[in-house]
Amino acid sequence: MTSEPSSSVRLAREEFPFLADRVYLNTAAVGLGCRRLASAYKSFIDEWTADGLDFVRAERAADASRAAFARIIGASPDDVALIPAVSAAAGLVAAQFTGAAAGENLVIGAQEYSSNHFPWRQLAARGYDIRQVPFRGGGIDPDDLAARVDGGTRLIALSAVQTATGHRSDLAAVSAIASGVGAWVFVDGSQSVGALDMAADLPGIDFLAASDHKFLLNAARGMGYLYVRQSLREQILPLGAGWKAGAVPFESFFGPRMELSDTASRFDSSISWLAAIGDEVCLSLLEQVGPSDIYAWNRTLAATLRQALADASVSVLQVPAANQSHIVAAPLGGRDPAPVLARLRSSGIICSARDGNLRISLHFYNNLADIERLTTALARCMKDV
Ligand SMILES: Cc1ncc(COP(=O)(O)O)c(C=O)c1O
Repeated sequence: MTSEPSSSVRLAREEFPFLADRVYLNTAAVGLGCRRLASAYKSFIDEWTADGLDFVRAERAADASRAAFARIIGASPDDVALIPAVSAAAGLVAAQFTGAAAGENLVIGAQEYSSNHFPWRQLAARGYDIRQVPFRGGGIDPDDLAARVDGGTRLIALSAVQTATGHRSDLAAVSAIASGVGAWVFVDGSQSVGALDMAADLPGIDFLAASDHKFLLNAARGMGYLYVRQSLREQILPLGAGWKAGAVPFESFFGPRMELSDTASRFDSSISWLAAIGDEVCLSLLEQVGPSDIYAWNRTLAATLRQALADASVSVLQVPAANQSHIVAAPLGGRDPAPVLARLRSSGIICSARDGNLRISLHFYNNLADIERLTTALARCMKDV
């Protein structure tokens, strides 16, 4: 494990003014704003005000972002659609499931984030048996999954990293279970893409959705990404198609002709132009810093945090070693989260609380001093509150 951040990671911290005097451990909620994001937004809005909105420029930014996202996950841009939200992407896939034949079922995580849970639950109304896997050690254990999957399983949906617990799914095992019965695998990468390497897992994934407002660093909302396995492109009906789904979007404003794109952009939604401007900058920052340097530093930060919390006798949620990630959950032991978060905030430390745990999320802009500051403050706080 690397003991120092690479120079690109170390220098990138300067991009985040917030970090000059405070500690930000809340990327699992929203990414931290950086200087170049602020200046890109400011100049786009200044130009909009002075000369009118340049939406062609924003569409170019969206395409550049699509390409950057594809490189980050190890895919082709032709396999990536632009989506407004993870729930919309799951909804598009869920809508493909019409009336269920006898025994057909979908298998989902019981405590999954709702955007990757509610869309599948709707399908009970169409006759599908929706089987929920209870979490063990903070997420889905492949044995528990296998026990619920059978020849009638059409889809398995889960997060690559669980929001509340930081449990990293064993996607290789999940894919093996799915391919054994021919089920699709829908993965929510909102807490993983940008923070850890997804490329090795991609061949076993049919759909990978991610929003941009966490580890991809832009919190404008209204834009995200959906990887669709190429061999499924023709099978999925682009039910949300509009002008953006056209072969040439700017020539697709009106019927009666409908010529949809041959690539995954046939699943594009109209996205937020402002968010596209921001995503272009944020994804290029991630690429400039270097995804592999980021992943390596995130692993070091997480291991250091776990050790520091153990040394300070702050207990953490027990997640199997192979499933640990850059998100660490510390059980609040029934404490009201509000005073704990307020105490930390008054020490200049930002975290969040989810599902009875303090959630500490790390990204490359954190350093070892942040961890020391949190650990000292938290050990004191857990005694007093
Ligand atoms: C795991 C996960 N998925 C998805 C989302 C966002 O979903 P949506 O894009 O549907 O708002 C979040 C948090 O905002 C999340 O933590």
